[in-house]
Amino acid sequence: MMRSMLLGASRSGRLRRTVETVPVTRNLVARFVPGTDESDVVRAAGELVDDGLTVTIDHLGEDAADRNQADAVTRAYVSLLRAMGEAGFGPEVEVSVKLSAVGQALSGEGTAVALDNARRICAAADGVGTTVTVDMEDHTTTDATLATVRELRADFPSVGAVLQAYLKRTEADCRDLAYEGSRVRLCKGAYDEPPSVAFTERADVDRSYVRCMKVLFGGRGYPMIATHDPRIVEIAGSLAARHRREQGSYEYQMLYGVRPREQRRLVRAGERVRVYVPYGAEWYGYLVRRLAERPANMALFLRSVASK
Ligand code: FDA
Repeated sequence: MMRSMLLGASRSGRLRRTVETVPVTRNLVARFVPGTDESDVVRAAGELVDDGLTVTIDHLGEDAADRNQADAVTRAYVSLLRAMGEAGFGPEVEVSVKLSAVGQALSGEGTAVALDNARRICAAADGVGTTVTVDMEDHTTTDATLATVRELRADFPSVGAVLQAYLKRTEADCRDLAYEGSRVRLCKGAYDEPPSVAFTERADVDRSYVRCMKVLFGGRGYPMIATHDPRIVEIAGSLAARHRREQGSYEYQMLYGVRPREQRRLVRAGERVRVYVPYGAEWYGYLVRRLAERPANMALFLRSVASK
């Protein structure tokens, strides 16, 4: 119930304006978001790369309200990719893009606008020798998002897709996407979905995650195991061994600020680990989703407000 409430709060404009005026939230924000500017995120990415990690950068924001906003986000990505190239990054630092931020939710022309903008971002990424992963949003967008990924892959085969283990359809989607060269990020899923389409019990989501991993590790694609769950990380390791996968033929992914010691432990064990690093002024919805995932984060937040 707390999770549903918080996910509702992540969409509340009034609450957002209130929270943004509370200075004590800044420490908590900084733990999950290294800054609002391009230079902040390029610096943070450099530090992670120095520690042996790889990175995917997300320009925060979703649901562009009009074409201008969608185009502005696209320009921000193109500029970021140029800055990444200038910093000397290659494929070790890629970007993650939400299609709703580049126009998918616009009525009528949304899918075409998002495809056009995503193509511009992919071309800019290609120009600096890196790639793009297309984030997955709520279940009403899954078909359109996978269709857009298919179109993008025709020109940019390394574009990554994201699948959410909490959706009942996902095991089948994993089978479709487990082909040679196909980069697939598997996550549990972060939205509040109805039981008609999603598993709602934690144990069922975890079981689905393991079934999906079996398909991905047994297939010919490149699995990207996006979770902080120690049990799932361990099972991923066993599946990699069972399928004789070399380190580097799959990767682990975790969020910036979440289990940083575990990220480095995996690197020391020879694994490839990618950190998802968000930046930008639109941190509110992202932060509230992180709070919804972990009561301990919520306690940290309440303590920081109480000690103001
Ligand atoms: P879960 O939240 O169930 O936690 C399982 C266990 O992990 C906990 O019991 C604890 O042991 C450990 N853990 C979790 N958080 C911790 C913390 N803060 N500190 C210490 N231990 C902690 N979602 C989506 O819908 N679309 C998307 O495109 C993406 N993209 C994405 C990219 C990447 C790189 C990641 C890591 C995640 C996403 N997600 C996402 C979010 C994802 O769906 C999910 O909401 C979160 O990753 C949380 O789920 P976990 O798998 O970590 O497990």
